[in-house]
Amino acid sequence: MKTAVIGAGVIGLSWARLFAEHGHPVKVFDPRPDLDVPEGVEVAPTVADAVRDADVVQENGPEDLEFKKTLFAELVRTAPRHALLLSSSSAIPSTAFTRGVDGSRVLIGHPFNPPHVLPLVEVVPGEQTTKESVGRAVEFYRGLGRTPVVERKEIPGFVGNRLQAALSREAAYLVEQGVVTPQDLDTVVTNSLGLRWATVGPFLGAHLGGGPGGYRHLAQHIGRSMQGLELGTPAQDPERLIKAVEDAYGSSTYSDLAETRDRRQLAVLTALEEN
Ligand SMILES: NC(=O)c1ccc[n+]([C@@H]2O[C@H](COP(=O)([O-])OP(=O)(O)OC[C@H]3O[C@@H](n4cnc5c(N)ncnc54)[C@H](O)[C@@H]3O)[C@@H](O)[C@H]2O)c1
Repeated sequence: MKTAVIGAGVIGLSWARLFAEHGHPVKVFDPRPDLDVPEGVEVAPTVADAVRDADVVQENGPEDLEFKKTLFAELVRTAPRHALLLSSSSAIPSTAFTRGVDGSRVLIGHPFNPPHVLPLVEVVPGEQTTKESVGRAVEFYRGLGRTPVVERKEIPGFVGNRLQAALSREAAYLVEQGVVTPQDLDTVVTNSLGLRWATVGPFLGAHLGGGPGGYRHLAQHIGRSMQGLELGTPAQDPERLIKAVEDAYGSSTYSDLAETRDRRQLAVLTALEEN
């Protein structure tokens, strides 16, 4: 399968690496002057050159509606007629950037960072996307060893990021209120919810938390005490929070932190596969 990766920042480079590792030829386009691509990946001088003979295009440019509108209009014009046009967009549904163009093979393939390690891809069709395109996207991502989940309705932020936003909002509030430091909040999550959620989601987790009485027992027994909680809204000015996170982690390099993250995430995935 010939692939094209448009936009090679954090997400695009990770996709390019995964595609190449699975034996797909990859052409990358990104105007950044410091572009450095993984082994086996080709750099194209323009979008049109990158997608000319592609079977699959994965877009990972800026999260900006106007950018995506312009780019997808060009992709629809220049990519082969059979090529799947996938966007990594975190929050913008594809219907919003395909109005007025043929969106039958355009859809969201939203990964979690980094896509060469984390398995989930949210596959979200737009109003014009055909069933055939959805099926091909699912097949493509499965072939890369990913776990695609097809979502039934478009909603800004899709599912994963909406869940993440709910937790992040409360995390910011707790740090702002001086209840906990950024590091200690991260320790709470990585030693409890993070580990739990690597095996069971919120619903099965709650069902098991209720013991033999299941979800019903938990909802009636502990759930009530949680219903009374007034969850916080973080301040509008995020600067203090940004500073606190930079104080916590700014002394390590990005590549050291990312390498440690990848190693630990792979160890959890390996342990799960072995059990
Ligand atoms: N970072 C994440 O955790 C994450 C996770 C999932 C999805 N996403 C989504 O993936 C997309 C990319 O995010 P990112 O975090 O990699 O951003 P990023 O800023 O790291 O990369 C964006 C890249 O787009 C390039 N770019 C700018 N103008 C371009 C153009 N005209 N044509 C092609 N490329 C251009 C930039 O040079 C940059 O390298 C966004 O839509 C984002 O919402 C991000």
